[in-house]
This record gives sequence, C-alpha cells and structure tokens, in this order.
Amino acid sequence: MYGSSSPGAGAPGGGGAGRPRKVTAPELRARKTLGDDGRFTTSERIVMVTAYDFTMARLLDRAGVDVMLVGDSLGMVFQGRDSTIPVTLDEVCYHCRAVARGAERAHVVGDMPFMSYQISPAQALESAGKLVKDGMAESVKLEGGADYAEHTRRIVRAGIPVMGHVGLLPQSMHALGGFKVQGKSDAEAQRIVADAQALEDAGAYAIVLEAVPPDVAARVTAAVSVPTIGIGAGPECDGQVLVCADMLGLTVGRVPRFVKRYAELGEAVSQATAAFAAEVRSQAFPAPEHCYAPGAGRAAPSPRAVPSAAEGAARATEAEASGPRHPPSRTRRLLRPPIKLVAS
Ligand code: KIV
Repeated sequence: MYGSSSPGAGAPGGGGAGRPRKVTAPELRARKTLGDDGRFTTSERIVMVTAYDFTMARLLDRAGVDVMLVGDSLGMVFQGRDSTIPVTLDEVCYHCRAVARGAERAHVVGDMPFMSYQISPAQALESAGKLVKDGMAESVKLEGGADYAEHTRRIVRAGIPVMGHVGLLPQSMHALGGFKVQGKSDAEAQRIVADAQALEDAGAYAIVLEAVPPDVAARVTAAVSVPTIGIGAGPECDGQVLVCADMLGLTVGRVPRFVKRYAELGEAVSQATAAFAAEVRSQAFPAPEHCYAPGAGRAAPSPRAVPSAAEGAARATEAEASGPRHPPSRTRRLLRPPIKLVAS
C-alpha cells in the first residue's frame, strides 16, 4: 500500500525482491480450524525455536522455522544467568532487532520480560509497543492466564498480536518454588484450561503451554480454538517450541527431559576451536592462501617472516603429533611454496 525503500523487506504479504513470504500471526492462527466432526484440526504444526542473534536467526530461517521467539530465556542462554527474572525490556529489544534482520520468512515474537507488563494493562501496552517499534517484533508474548486477560486485550486492541503462555511460568519461579511441572492435580489442570480460554477470549492468537503432562496439554488444545505451542507438553499440541541452544546441542551440562538434541554443535565448536588454537601455536595458520597479496613498492620482509616449505612441513608434523584432529588438507597447504614477495 505504501512506498518503501526496500521493496518486500519484512512485508507480511510481501515476498518482493526474491524474499520469501513472511509468516504472520493471522496465518498461524488460521492453521487451527474446526472440523466437521466438531473437533479442532491443525493444517500444519507450528515450528517455533528461540533465537537471540542475527547469525543464528538467518540459519534457523533458512531451515524453515515458522516462528522465532526472542525469549527472555536469553537471560540464561546468552547472559549466563540462573533465571529469566533480571532480563530487561531494552535487552529483549536489542536481541529482537538482531533476530528480525535475519528472519526473512519466520514470524518474530518478542518476549515481554518480568515487570515489563505485570503492573497494569497500560504498562503492558507501552512495553508491547516498544518491542514492536524499537525491537522490530511482529507480535509479543507474555506469561500468565486469566490474571493477564485484560493486559492481553489492551495490547490486541492496539493492533499488536499477542501469544499467551500458561502452565509453567518461569517468571513466577519464586512463587512456584522452582521450575516444576504444572497441572498434576485435576484442579490445577482445570485452572490451566480456564487460563488458556481467558487468553483466547482476550484475543491471543496462539498460546505456549509449558511443562504440563501430555493429557493436560491435550485438554487445553481441545478446549481452545487458537493453536497451542508446547514445550515439555507432549505431542498433542498444535506446534512445538524448543530453545535453540538445547535443540542444537550447544548447551553444556544437563538439559530438561523434554529436550531432544538434534545435533552436537557444542562438541563441534570445541573441536574446531582446539584445531585453530593448535594451528596458531604451531604457526600452521595463517597459510599463504589466508594472506593478502603484498602491496607494490614495499620492501620484502625479512626471511623469517615467511616460513620455508621445509619449516612449514616440520611445524605441520609437530602440530600433528601434539594437537587434535586437523583437516587433512592442512599439511598439503603447508608444503606449498610460500608467497612470493615481489620487491620493486
Ligand atoms: O523464553 C523462552 O525461551 C520461552 C520458551 C521457553 C517458550 O518462553
């Protein structure tokens, strides 16, 4: 409708200039419909992953995730804290902007951190607005059920889509006595269903269900017309979300039972870095192909600056004997003649 200096960039319907179409909140909402049998069906399960930076966002986007959540879990994953509680709105905005630049297709959700919305619906609206304006978020997520229905309603009325979050609420860890499975008793399960219904009523387009038994997740999923996105909530949800560092095997140490590690990238990072360290110490890196051509008119460096082929080979053998595994081509590279420096 309006002109833009970068056609298609971030445009929801978009797809201009070779960009993929953006996934939108209404599109995610519309994946769940009421079937002829009176039951809800989901046309395609929603795939959501957390992201905190541009590089990872671009990779996740290329892999085809539907939603990237800039979660307040960044407090643990990115900042090394024990909980999400200290995370600030400015910090979420900062990470959100980085992720939004890498998300050509995926919908970007900005998480409302602790005390950025709890005080009043007006505060919630102001914080949500900041996440959209400063953080480039396309929707926001907040924790809590019926108690936050009014907050949700106010944000939705202002034109910002809201993703709800019920079950385990990590921002309430002190009140809950830790990160514990929720909905174990029937009363608790009923309360979670009622919370999800209150959020649906307030206009939430999807609801995260965290750490509840699968039967409770199934009850909630059957009770609301908006998609549920589970984390530690079993297979009956309309979508699934995992923290990217857990899912990719970057998290060192124990991960929750519900996590599946689809790769061991942490191990790959450590091995690659150890190989780099060994090559720096043995002076195998940088090799000639990693160096710029010498500038014309400069004097040739002293002979020590460039290792001879024989020196290089000796260093390679040394590094091979002491260091970890290296790419097989490294020794060959070292045996190549050194760069010829031309003095004019
Ligand atoms: O902050 C986060 O990563 C989340 C997910 C666990 C849903 O809220």
